[in-house]
Amino acid sequence: MPAPEQRRIIFQHIDEPGYTNDIDCYLRNGGYEVLKKAVGRKPEELIDEVKKSGLRGRGGAGFPCGVKWGLVDRKSGKPIYLIVNADESEPGTFKDRYIMHQDPHQLIEGTIISCFANNVKQAYIYIRGEMPEGARILEKAIAEARAKNFVGPNILGTGYSCEIYVHRGAGAYICGEETGLIESLEGKRANPRIKPPYFPAVLGLYQCPTIVNNVETLCHVKYIAEHGGEAYAKIGTPNNTGTRIFCVSGHVQRPGYYEFPAGTITMGQLLNDVCGGPLPGRTFKAVIPGGSSAKILRFGERFKGKRKVGTEMVDYDWGVEDVPMDFDSLGMIGTMGGSGGVIVMDDTVNMVEALANINAFYSHESCGQCTPCREGSLWMKKISSRMVHGDARPQDGALLKSVADQIPGRTICAFGEACSWPTQSFIAKFTDEFNNYHEAKKQPKPAAANVLV
Ligand SMILES: Cc1cc2nc3c(=O)[nH]c(=O)nc-3n(C[C@H](O)[C@H](O)[C@H](O)COP(=O)(O)O)c2cc1C
Ligand code: SF4
Repeated sequence: MPAPEQRRIIFQHIDEPGYTNDIDCYLRNGGYEVLKKAVGRKPEELIDEVKKSGLRGRGGAGFPCGVKWGLVDRKSGKPIYLIVNADESEPGTFKDRYIMHQDPHQLIEGTIISCFANNVKQAYIYIRGEMPEGARILEKAIAEARAKNFVGPNILGTGYSCEIYVHRGAGAYICGEETGLIESLEGKRANPRIKPPYFPAVLGLYQCPTIVNNVETLCHVKYIAEHGGEAYAKIGTPNNTGTRIFCVSGHVQRPGYYEFPAGTITMGQLLNDVCGGPLPGRTFKAVIPGGSSAKILRFGERFKGKRKVGTEMVDYDWGVEDVPMDFDSLGMIGTMGGSGGVIVMDDTVNMVEALANINAFYSHESCGQCTPCREGSLWMKKISSRMVHGDARPQDGALLKSVADQIPGRTICAFGEACSWPTQSFIAKFTDEFNNYHEAKKQPKPAAANVLV
């Protein structure tokens, strides 16, 4: 079957000729009309719309946004904060950057609507340190929105006031983890907090109830406020509503970002029809479907089981190409949709070398609080680095696996899973390549580059 048509609701104006990121252009395209209507509604109605929409967070975990908002402690008497997670540091992910660079007012409008719905008077956009241009664009856009009374005191004469501040990170992957981000925003080292008790909805920024949402998630909220939760829920598939943006990088003919109704496109359609297939003379070898921490899939493997379609349980028997690109289907086959970063590797890639690259990243980014993560990520890096530097041993695959198996479930934050899943899955899927690497190193290297991210 050919791929479905793209449906761009969040990326509607991204790369559109003549579309600029200033407020005049945004207003000419209907900008801030949704906010004008939203502030005339009851905040609870807006929260209900988000609940009805089934929107799942686009930062990685796919947690339902309406449920998250429902968990906020509204009785403490403390201020409620909203933080826009614009850290976007998961390797392979590059969607939030384009929203902020090309359509910053979409994010600001979605943020203010979300603040109004949750009685938030102060919001922070925490942007990754390596995105200075994005920070400048957002600062300018917020100033423009304030000048038009969409942000700041007494918004549109309603008596409701809300400020948005841009906060630049200093450039660490762990600042994307929501409690590490909160620590960093408070001016401290980004050490993630233990949950419980530090669930942001109860004890977040300055120990006050806090909502942390991804950039893209808040843009979906704007769409939901405009069209209603039910209409939004009709896009995509049940439990995977709305659209999903895929950031495809690596060995395809047309890498880039693509937006489709969630769950309507398979991996094969995305990589072959949309991205043009493998490079000339190459074949697909593996793909990481949701950012570098998602478990890798090997072309040629099959996944069988039962899944719910409507009210019935039906059998499925999929190759990698057949898997629908939604949270649940990817979860069923043992990986995840995560942040939508699809990293493609063809037959020129040596998996030991690719894993060494990933392990070096995670080892560098561990905050160091938990022994299994700090030591485990370091040892995984040391072993895989030793392997690719000429001292591989036949038992290294098993050794790497034994280190990786000791990390998940034993750490403060989900970085423990993020750093161990690549090693576990690379070795499970490419066992022979790891076991035989010490022999393979004696053969001449393939000509192609092994750059992964
Ligand atoms: C190690 C780690 C890194 C993360 N990095 C990001 C990130 O860069 N951007 C992001 O939005 N969420 C990131 N998350 C997820 C956040 O902790 C949080 O769940 C998310 O911002 C919630 O937003 P959402 O519900 O709208 O998806 C990361 C999580 C972990 C464990
Ligand atoms: S799991 Fe790793 S990154 Fe997370 S708190 Fe522990 S040491 Fe830090």
